[in-house]
Amino acid sequence: MRVCGIVGYVGHRPALDVVLAGLRRLEYRGYDSAGVAVLSGDGLAVERKAGRLANLEARLDEVGRDGFAGTAGMGHTRWATHGAPVDRNSHPHRDTTGRVAVVHNGIIENFAALRAELEAAGVELSSDTDSETVAHLVARAYADGDTRGDLPASVRLVCRRLDGAFTLVVTHADVPDLIVAARRSSPLVVGIGDGETFVASDVAAFIEHTREAVELGQDQLVLITRDGYEVLDFHGEPAPAKPFTVDWDLSAAEKGGHEYFMLKEIDEQPTALADTLRGHFAGGRIVLDEQRLSDQDLRDVDKVFVVACGSAYHSGLVAKYAIEHWTRLPVEVELASEFRYRDPVLDRDTLVVAVSQSGETADTLEAVRHAREQKARVLAVCNTNGAQIPRESDAVLYTHAGPEIGVASTKAFLAQIAANYLVGLALAQARGTKYPDEVAREFHELSAMPDAVRRVLGTTAQVQALGRELSDAKAVLFLGRHVGYPVALEGALKLKELAYMHAEGFAAGELKHGPIALIEPGLPVVVVMPSPKGRAVLHSKLVSNISEIQARGARTIVIAEEGDDTVRPYADELIEVPAVPTLLQPLVSTVPLQVLAAEIARSRGYDVDKPRNLAKSVTVE
Ligand code: M6R
Repeated sequence: MRVCGIVGYVGHRPALDVVLAGLRRLEYRGYDSAGVAVLSGDGLAVERKAGRLANLEARLDEVGRDGFAGTAGMGHTRWATHGAPVDRNSHPHRDTTGRVAVVHNGIIENFAALRAELEAAGVELSSDTDSETVAHLVARAYADGDTRGDLPASVRLVCRRLDGAFTLVVTHADVPDLIVAARRSSPLVVGIGDGETFVASDVAAFIEHTREAVELGQDQLVLITRDGYEVLDFHGEPAPAKPFTVDWDLSAAEKGGHEYFMLKEIDEQPTALADTLRGHFAGGRIVLDEQRLSDQDLRDVDKVFVVACGSAYHSGLVAKYAIEHWTRLPVEVELASEFRYRDPVLDRDTLVVAVSQSGETADTLEAVRHAREQKARVLAVCNTNGAQIPRESDAVLYTHAGPEIGVASTKAFLAQIAANYLVGLALAQARGTKYPDEVAREFHELSAMPDAVRRVLGTTAQVQALGRELSDAKAVLFLGRHVGYPVALEGALKLKELAYMHAEGFAAGELKHGPIALIEPGLPVVVVMPSPKGRAVLHSKLVSNISEIQARGARTIVIAEEGDDTVRPYADELIEVPAVPTLLQPLVSTVPLQVLAAEIARSRGYDVDKPRNLAKSVTVE
């Protein structure tokens, strides 16, 4: 099982350079080990190494790169779950003759049976992975029977035997100018250059060379040569594939002078918000993207579920307040990994909003499938064009945050909140729970948020200094109420994943029901304050909560609206954010928490973009 980055290339350049450059851009997908295979002379040159890509590059320098002189090859970065991240479990995997090489992303669910079959036939496997079985199966199909000497037919035959999700890239030393790739429920795109063709899990791998791409469908196979590509289904019939032009350029996938992608992505949040909102209010109405749902469908909705994971889930928790308030529909927000296991009550009048930056998250994808089986309508909120979740949904609203490379979600999270709000406004508009001028006013207020976020970004030096001070803390607690509660959860998640620090988010009202026992002298507690004007009652209750923790010696770090003087005496550290309407506060109050987590991680000497044990896209359940 794995979540990985894959790249394959056939062309006129040295394949090793192209593949390594592609892997560098895909390393965010997994960084437990890396490997390359180049079709060179009459054989395959392969090198694999546990750890970061840099280890592989060092190894290549050590053994010398002369043996890797071909112009066709493939590479892989791995995120291990089964089979330790050691050299022998790294990809590419080869068959016993060493003439077939395979890289794989996903899980082959029936691998135990396939492995037993191979072992019974006398094949000795050299790794603990499911992927290696594919290399042996392809080699055997190529060597014998109807598929003898036919690599595409051999790969098709093997794909038909595989259960589970996979992206595979396969080469055979006998056919050095051909690479065969296949996909089922795992990402794979083709890049079309001039005299060169690419396959990859993400366009970032080849954007340096071409922006012309082709999206593969489910259960499809692509044959790439330097002259082009051919798409087939698993039975060898020509299959339709969707060409598209990547609408961002190389600079979007580069750090642009920032030390880390995450810092660049935090800075890009105003643009991400503006791009996500652009074009969605036209002719006095909210307009969604591929809204294959009619206004009547939206009027028929009697319940909304938001399903998502991690930060995307937090974006749903924020949206619940707005959607319920604007539409008077009940909204349940559920972790996608729990959703289908508890028999949720769904029918054709249920709208399920599936939020996912990558559009690949296996838990969310399975929740979408479950919802559709129960006849619910599914609207995806996604940042990745053509990913599996939008493909399997009834409608899609894209967040236009651009590529997010840092593993910690930042700009995608803010864009998800904005997009979820557009869904809420579209529902309110169709159902008439808001007058058109009210919808227009809400959209206008949302449109002012890029500037508000820009102002927050102008004051990050204070938060960075605080981050350096807190780098030795053992734990940090986060408190909020109303929309500040999911912000507290998000702040804690950021700190856990980046700084490996114990961090918990609580609804401040719950403090006295248990968590207050955690308070001890010097413990940093971050409090997300509501507006004293917009939510006066909640504000005064939170002030009481702060004084309770202050009385017990906590160090209070308060995020409050500019000019909120009442809270000043209770704040050991006051971080001011611009005054914005209550429902939009998460868009400004989350930003200092992102900066804080990044700075603490940096001060502790951790890799901010690639936190340990994590990967950007989690394509396994
Ligand atoms: O691609 P998705 O939005 O579906 O990913 C969901 C979560 O895995 C993701 O938000 C994760 O929690 C982030 N690393 C949080 O920063």
